Amino acid sequence: MKIAISGKGGVGKTTIMALLAGELQKQGQKVLVIDADPSPHMAETLGIKDTEQIKPIAEMGALLAERAGKTAGSPFYNLNPEVNDLLRDFMLEQDGIRLMILGAVQTAEGGCACPENHVLRKMLKKMLLTADEVVLLDMEAGVEHLGRGTVAGADCLLIVTIPSRSGIRTALKIKKMADDVKIPRVCFIGNLVRDQDDKNFLEQELGERPLVFFPDSQAVRRAERTEQPIITLQEGIEEVPKQLIKQLLAKD
Ligand SMILES: Nc1ncnc2c1ncn2[C@@H]1O[C@H](COP(=O)(O)OP(=O)(O)OP(=O)(O)O)[C@@H](O)[C@H]1O
Ligand SMILES: [Mg+2]
Repeated sequence: MKIAISGKGGVGKTTIMALLAGELQKQGQKVLVIDADPSPHMAETLGIKDTEQIKPIAEMGALLAERAGKTAGSPFYNLNPEVNDLLRDFMLEQDGIRLMILGAVQTAEGGCACPENHVLRKMLKKMLLTADEVVLLDMEAGVEHLGRGTVAGADCLLIVTIPSRSGIRTALKIKKMADDVKIPRVCFIGNLVRDQDDKNFLEQELGERPLVFFPDSQAVRRAERTEQPIITLQEGIEEVPKQLIKQLLAKD
């Protein structure tokens, strides 16, 4: 299954993806996390070190263009069927979780991130997974990746929102765009939820009940401040990652 996550800035996308990665790995799934945020910090959240060893996906395009006999600067990438073999150079594995990063090619003049997103989109579409493999795609905030169709190859999009009007507004916009690009399954997730009022507000404003609600957790806050990888968290988020996986697998 290929699962992408989206939502307004700072609503907890990376945190939730890391918790999901940890729980899936515990349950025996082979997890590949792709950090597609141009300001990546999934590695720290997962506690993965030596990330300078990973070749960013952005370089994959140049490599593939080279192989296809085109110039490295060409905006066109001819992905060939051997793409899966190539992936190995672009990932780092630690404690059973593999990580890939998109890599930022942004210039002061506002250079476009389109080429690497194009590679990512194609890669997602071409990646064939076995039943015990899960790809988790952590996206940058906002709607741009949907505009570019980067996540069109995902089987499922999780839209995270906190119980605030602005969070919900962005979530609904993302939902509409996800439906337009025909992502097969799109679900909301509530984060920083304190009480029943928060749950009711989310359900009412979203027009449907979020799949799960993550609590506002002191343990998560503490882990972030002390630079403890979120994935090693033993308490404070209750059974929510487990519930989420159950829900995702149930309707799949
Ligand atoms: N359930 C939670 N309880 C307490 N703190 C949380 C929770 N979820 C996330 N946070 C905190 O909120 C902050 C933002 O979280 P995170 O980086 O996961 O958000 P994001 O949506 O990935 O942000 P960005 O849009 O910048 O990528 C972090 O400091 C994180 O520790
Ligand atoms: Mg993030």
